[in-house]
Amino acid sequence: MTAAQGRVLVIVPAAGSGSRFGGEIPKQFRMLAGKPLLQHVVERFLLDEKVSRVIVPIAEALVATVKAMPRVRFVAGGATRQQSVTLGLAAARGGVDDVVAVHDAVRPFFSSETFHAAVAAAREHGAAFPALPVADTIHVLDGDKVVMTPDRRFLFGAQTPQCFRTEVLREVLARAARDGDDASDEVGLAAKYGFDVRAVPGDPLNFKITRPEDLVMAERIIAEWGNEGSQS
Ligand code: CTP
Ligand code: MG
Repeated sequence: MTAAQGRVLVIVPAAGSGSRFGGEIPKQFRMLAGKPLLQHVVERFLLDEKVSRVIVPIAEALVATVKAMPRVRFVAGGATRQQSVTLGLAAARGGVDDVVAVHDAVRPFFSSETFHAAVAAAREHGAAFPALPVADTIHVLDGDKVVMTPDRRFLFGAQTPQCFRTEVLREVLARAARDGDDASDEVGLAAKYGFDVRAVPGDPLNFKITRPEDLVMAERIIAEWGNEGSQS
């Protein structure tokens, strides 16, 4: 890191209800190897020397209940992921970080290599994210009828951390709010608005814990490979 480069502000949206996962406790607070998923993610970022601080949007009702941690700020999230990220970034006003990374609270196995590659590409081009080639063939359906089968070579799953020059993410979120756009990730919005968005190599281990079986898989991965071995 050169002196001209700043550090990275990390936003970990964690205000979701985990409807596909189900259960009483939202999935980001479920235990993995004895620790809540959210804690795995926040601690890994805090160990990274590029990271200045971590902002965690959570359900409004929980904000008053969380324990303070150095360099971590819990703020009220919103009704959609995009709103949670927007509220997280708004809470960061006044910071000097030149890059913002947005990472799902439920992807405990991101690697430093992936994170650093996305940060570097975002500094150079404006926005970057880890892209994983899809394994399955993807069909577009209308009801139960196949209407299109895009060439798989051009299809990639979007992972996080998604990284942006700070001013790019501010502009993207402001424009989305103005236009009433709500997207499942911010790089899609950035590309839609004409920003240069680049892909860095994604990693199959950096999967999102979406359903209960994903958590079972994550426990097995830690049991087999350990916390570090799986995270290179
Ligand atoms: N998220 C958020 N605020 C919301 C919705 C989602 O901060 N209003 C966060 C989730 O907590 C999660 C990340 O965005 O860390 C990725 O979203 P997803 O995996 O879809 O989580 P949920 O929305 O909670 O799950 P589901 O879609 O199954 O309800
Ligand atoms: Mg969701």
